[in-house]
Amino acid sequence: MSLNTSKIDRITAILDTGPDPALMPIGRRIRTKVCDINNLDIPERSGGIYLIDIDLRDPRKVGRLREALYPRAADDVYIFAAGSRDHPSRVQAMNLGANHVINKPMDAVQIAKTLVSLCEMAPDGKSRPRGQRSPVLTTPTTGDRSPGSPYALAAEATAAAIPSVTAASEAIDDIFWAMQENFIPDMGLVTDASVTVLKALTTVPVDDWLTNVRIHHEGTYQHCLLATGVAAAFGKTGKIPVALRKQLAVAALLHDVGKSAVPRRILEKRNILTDGEMEIVRRHPVDGYEFLRKTTSIPDAILTAVRDHHELLDGSGYPAGRTAGDISPLTRVLTVCDIYAALTERRAYKPALPKETALKILHDMVERGKIDASALATLETSLKG
Ligand SMILES: [Fe+2]
Ligand SMILES: [Fe+2]
Repeated sequence: MSLNTSKIDRITAILDTGPDPALMPIGRRIRTKVCDINNLDIPERSGGIYLIDIDLRDPRKVGRLREALYPRAADDVYIFAAGSRDHPSRVQAMNLGANHVINKPMDAVQIAKTLVSLCEMAPDGKSRPRGQRSPVLTTPTTGDRSPGSPYALAAEATAAAIPSVTAASEAIDDIFWAMQENFIPDMGLVTDASVTVLKALTTVPVDDWLTNVRIHHEGTYQHCLLATGVAAAFGKTGKIPVALRKQLAVAALLHDVGKSAVPRRILEKRNILTDGEMEIVRRHPVDGYEFLRKTTSIPDAILTAVRDHHELLDGSGYPAGRTAGDISPLTRVLTVCDIYAALTERRAYKPALPKETALKILHDMVERGKIDASALATLETSLKG
């Protein structure tokens, strides 16, 4: 089988539910047909790329997929999505002839990286990812590489990730997985990653680090990484003791782990949340706190910061409506870093705000007695370096 970039002009996505937001950036550049596994209609059966994100443990869905996709056309490429530790589903994907298995939840960068690996794989298979059955592909010599082309999209996605960004994302991945599956998290990964990020930000400008995160990650992971980078930059100013710097970086990595219990449809909802949905979201600080309290021995100061990171000094925050006297210095700093990260990232329901606009909003919050003035002043200093 062979494939070159010019063939990546169309993708068929087969999904359990409605269109996945992860497909939107891809769909803007590559014609992407979205099919519901419950109502499959795949008329074109030659040389296609199929992106399959269904419940591979459901025999009825697997049966429907087999009916639609088999016998397989010579140039078909099957990319399946499965949980990174969901071994039964990964085995099922391989049984169904997966060329690649990418991790759930899918994101646009992951998909783009897979596409570029399909484009760039040499005929001798040297660049074939280990452990994956891959097609033999030709290195592209022709095809559209102009800005905005599928190739450019994929190449952009494979711009080198800063190693500390990767280390931190692996730590976040592990902790989110552990909470979802009720496992004990590997805190060694978290502390190592926090040290790596702190070290990296002594040489890498904070804006470069944050931009690298935005290129390589999306959604809640992106948010946690941005908050961690901002927190590490905060520590670099020298305005807080070394021990507190490490605690702040760890707290930032962990602060939203409770979101692993919030359904993705709520986290990525574009419209205003209902009261019921809001209540679910507002549980995440306590859920994260309880999970970490039961499964780790991290210091109380970090646990408290995780539980209280949405509390505001005037008592208008959640979950408990604590006021200034009950909110620790570490929590106050984490809250400022968290809000700045949230304002400057793109979410399903809002665009990213420029740095200046985000800082103006934070200053308004200081004036209204909601967040700590000295924490904001230090944050501003940290963002200059
Ligand atoms: Fe949060
Ligand atoms: Fe957050």
